[in-house]
Parts: sequence; structure tokens; C-alpha cells
Amino acid sequence: MKVLVIGSGAREHALCRSLAADPSVDAVWAAPGNPGMEQVARCRPLPGGVTDAAAVTALAAEVGADLVVVGPEAPLVAGVADALRERGIACFGPSAAAARLEGSKAFAKEVMAAADVPTAMSRVCTRLSQVTDALDAFGAPHVVKDDGLAAGKGVVVTDQRTQALAHAAHCLDTHDPDDPDKRARGTAHEPEPEGVEHRVVVEEYLDGPELSVFCLTDGTTVVPLAPAQDFKRAGEGGTGPNTGGMGAYSPLDWAPADLLDEVVTRIAQPTIDEMRRRGTPFVGVLYVGLALTSRGPRVVEFNARFGDPDGQACLARLETPLGGLLLAAATGALAEHPPLRWREDHAVTVVLASRGYPENPRTGFPITGLDDLAGLGEDVYVLHAGTKRTADGTLVSSGGRVLDVVALGADLAQARERAYTALDTIHLEGAHCRRDIGLAAERGTVTVPSPSGA
Ligand code: AMP
Ligand code: GLY
Repeated sequence: MKVLVIGSGAREHALCRSLAADPSVDAVWAAPGNPGMEQVARCRPLPGGVTDAAAVTALAAEVGADLVVVGPEAPLVAGVADALRERGIACFGPSAAAARLEGSKAFAKEVMAAADVPTAMSRVCTRLSQVTDALDAFGAPHVVKDDGLAAGKGVVVTDQRTQALAHAAHCLDTHDPDDPDKRARGTAHEPEPEGVEHRVVVEEYLDGPELSVFCLTDGTTVVPLAPAQDFKRAGEGGTGPNTGGMGAYSPLDWAPADLLDEVVTRIAQPTIDEMRRRGTPFVGVLYVGLALTSRGPRVVEFNARFGDPDGQACLARLETPLGGLLLAAATGALAEHPPLRWREDHAVTVVLASRGYPENPRTGFPITGLDDLAGLGEDVYVLHAGTKRTADGTLVSSGGRVLDVVALGADLAQARERAYTALDTIHLEGAHCRRDIGLAAERGTVTVPSPSGA
């Protein structure tokens, strides 16, 4: 079969790499792709961007794609999967209506409530007065989330009430199309006209380690992948601002043995059943971000696509050919798919980010040393995220997250050592990475809070 992958980051590079290794896949196309993806896929531009549904559909028809895999959330929320299905092209990725599970945190909360899925208590607020009430009700630490898509950067978790309020005010104001002066005046609690209300979600704080479970689904059957843990903060030890993700590892030795069963039974299956019941079946990957709290697993967020970089750590270990698996999900055939096979190794992904990421990334610097990585063997490889080639062919940084180094090893220590050895051979001026990806797990210091009152 021929597969077209939509996107241009390290997650899509990983998808292309695994698809190219599937014997049932004859050709992999990527749009718009990146210089790394060119090694495993044929890249085609998308001048109107990945949300241009007409262009994606036309390209899929032109290359004769049997399957389109949509990597990022924006095209899903924009209805690219709907347009493909209308043309009769199989797509791995949810419809716009189903992608609201990621696109609107308030909608996700509503579905979770209907499906009795355990998550943080929350209140949806449209005025600052409601925000202050909610902050008081839940207490510190405070969690305030922008309702819409914000690439993981719309969330503030803080002990400071003033900071929580400032973020809420900023979210409400930024979205108010009618009154650009509101931010200066700090009066976002004025009622908004019908239809332009914007929302922030205030939540109870969830204690306990966070992890990601990617649940493949054809709208009915759910197949979970091995769990991964992502490192969202920019700085070591979980300090600094939230980012799209600075690294990940999989599997999680510290996770309870029945974790995947519990995630499917209590979270993913009820959610998928509820979406089908509403007439908006969810097809693709339901990314369950959860916290293992003292009161059991709680959903932190749903996403409608693979994690980045947690997806890369997970896919690195998947032995089952990816093309057949994603096609089965896209065509309602997951129930007949054989059980998944996994490499026993541990996988680590470390992100190399531009100077200034996430606030103010500086790009355009040459990247060198990648050719020297070949000597490190097959179990270490680089995925491109924000890279491009200049007119003279020089590889330069072009985004906040520039490269992912992925390494496999017999244990986490070996995988980490290989990843950091590789990173030390790569040169990018001013770049930074977190040196502690997977470190607590390697040391055995990740702890799941024990059930209170049990
Ligand atoms: P989200 O965009 O909902 O994934 O949130 C981004 C990050 O903020 C999460 O990965 C968590 O690290 C943190 N976070 C979100 N919600 C909570 C919560 N209720 N309690 C504690 N941390 C949270
Ligand atoms: N790594 C977090 C995300 O993909 O949202």
C-alpha cells in the first residue's frame, strides 16, 4: 500500500520511518515533510499549510494513497480527515467533531462526565469572578487552562493565586475579539455578547506521576500501546515553562501491572463508546494523558493524535508493522488485528531545542555532527523536527524543537547513555536539552502515591 503522512515534525518523521519499515508499505509520501523525512519518504509541499483540506485530499488522490496518517492536531480539528473520507480515502485520524476531545478542554470534560471517566474536578469559567470562586474552591496548587488548542502552552500550574488569575485574565482577553483594550483594563469579567464567550477551565491539582497511553481505535475497538512518560517542562527537575515536550521514555517499569487494562476499561473504551453513541465516532489515536494519583488514575488531558516526543519513544519499540495496524484502525478492522509485538528494549527520546525555546527560539543555525552518528549503531537514530536546508544545502535549525535523538538499550541506563553520547556529537549553537530524561526511572525513584484511606 501507499501511505501519505501529514505533518513536518519529529513525530511524523517517526511515523514515516516505521511505515517505511513495514513490508506491506510500498511507498511513503509526506507533506510537507522535513529534511529528515526525505530519507524515508517522498516529500511534497503544502503551500496552504497542513490545514488545507482540499490540498491534502488532492495530493492523496494524486499519489494514489491507500491510507493517510494525520500527525498533528490542527488539521484534524480543521476537518482534514472528514474531507479525505468524503473522497473515499482511508484516514487514520478523527473527524473534526471527534477531534474536539483535544480541541476543547470543556468538551472533553463533558464527554468524560457522560462516560463516567475519572478526571480532575473542574469548572468552566467565562468571567474572572467565576475563576476566583473556582480557585478558592479547589485551593492551591492552582491549575488554569485555556479552553482551546495551545500546543501545551495554555496551561499554568502555580502556587501563586495572582499568577493563576493573571493567566485566566489573559486567556479571556486574548480571545475577546470585541474589546482589545480589555487586557489593559483587566475587566475580562464583563459579560460577553452571545457566541463570542471564551472559556478557561480551572481544575483541582492532581498529585502523582504523569504518563501517556496511546489508544488506537477504529471507533469501536481499542488497542493500547505501551505507556510512555513525557517531560513537559523546559528545565531539569521539572522546572521552567511548559513546552511541547523535551523528552520521553518507554516502557514504564514503575507503572502498575494492570495499568493498560485499567486505562482501557475505565477511560478509553467508555470514551470511545460515548463518542460513537453521540454519532461522532473517534477513529485514530486517543492520547490519554493521565496522572496516577493517590485516588487512582485520573485523566489530565485527551489528545487526538500521537504525542510528540512520547509517541517517538513508544513507536521505537513497536515490532508490529505500523502500516497494517493503522490501516486496520482506519478501516474498522482493529478487532481482527493480531496482538501487538514489542521489542524488550527500553527506548529514550531526548529533544534538542533551540536557544531561547520555548519563549523566544532563535533559528537559522547550522547543525553538524549528524553523519558521525552512524558509528553508534542501529539502536540510535535522529528524527528531525525543526530543520530545513538552505539554498546551498546546509542543514539549519528552523524551529523551537530541532531534533530528537532516539536510543534503545537493554535497560534505561543503556538507552540513556546511548542517547546522550549521540547528543554530545551533534553541534547546534546555543542549543539545549534536558539531561534528566528518564533519570528518576533509571534510579527507581518514581513513586506512585499510595491510595489514601485504603
Ligand atoms: P494539558 O495541556 O491539559 O495537557 O496540561 C499541560 C500540563 O500541565 C500537563 O501535562 C500537566 O503537567 C499539567 N497539568 C494539567 N492539568 C493538571 C492538573 N489538574 N493537575 C496537575 N498538573 C496538571
Ligand atoms: N508530548 C505532549 C504532547 O504531544 O502533547
